Amino acid sequence: MSVNCLVAYCSMSGNTEEIAETIGKGISQAGANVDVKDILMVDVKDLLNYDGVLLGAYSWGDGDLPDEFLDFYEGMDQISLKGKKAAAFGSCDSSYEHRGGAVDILVEKLNEIEADVVLEGLKIDLAPTAEEKEQCIQYGMEFVGKFGRGE
Ligand SMILES: Cc1cc2nc3c(=O)[nH]c(=O)nc-3n(C[C@H](O)[C@H](O)[C@H](O)COP(=O)(O)O)c2cc1C
Repeated sequence: MSVNCLVAYCSMSGNTEEIAETIGKGISQAGANVDVKDILMVDVKDLLNYDGVLLGAYSWGDGDLPDEFLDFYEGMDQISLKGKKAAAFGSCDSSYEHRGGAVDILVEKLNEIEADVVLEGLKIDLAPTAEEKEQCIQYGMEFVGKFGRGE
């Protein structure tokens, strides 16, 4: 039975989108099905249709989630992701005090709604370099690897 994953992201200048697409590539390469979507095109309840969910957002303000993510974030309190695997990622900038704060907020929320957060949050400064793109592909593959053997 194949694993179905959703990569849902929020990106203003395209960096987090690029990370999302590249993680999606890794997920495909590992043999799972994947949908990569802008968060504005996703309903919170859609998460329930997937085995694995990866949420991505750039950081804003003082290590905050972007405004475009807030409705979705608040809606997450209405569901449980118990039994599903999850992870979070995002583009950030180390020149800010709270580097990648949005990624930490997403990890915390995923834990709160009982998802099994199987990987550490992936934070990449600005646009991914060639090397960081490789890291994104590995991240996607590793995520799928968490479904392996006996589960
Ligand atoms: C006003 C403003 C505030 C920001 N605040 C943070 C921050 O607190 N922490 C951080 O890591 N990055 C911060 N950033 C950097 C963005 O997260 C970074 O530019 C990112 O690459 C944007 O991703 P995107 O291309 O997906 O929109 C901020 C950027 C702007 C313009």
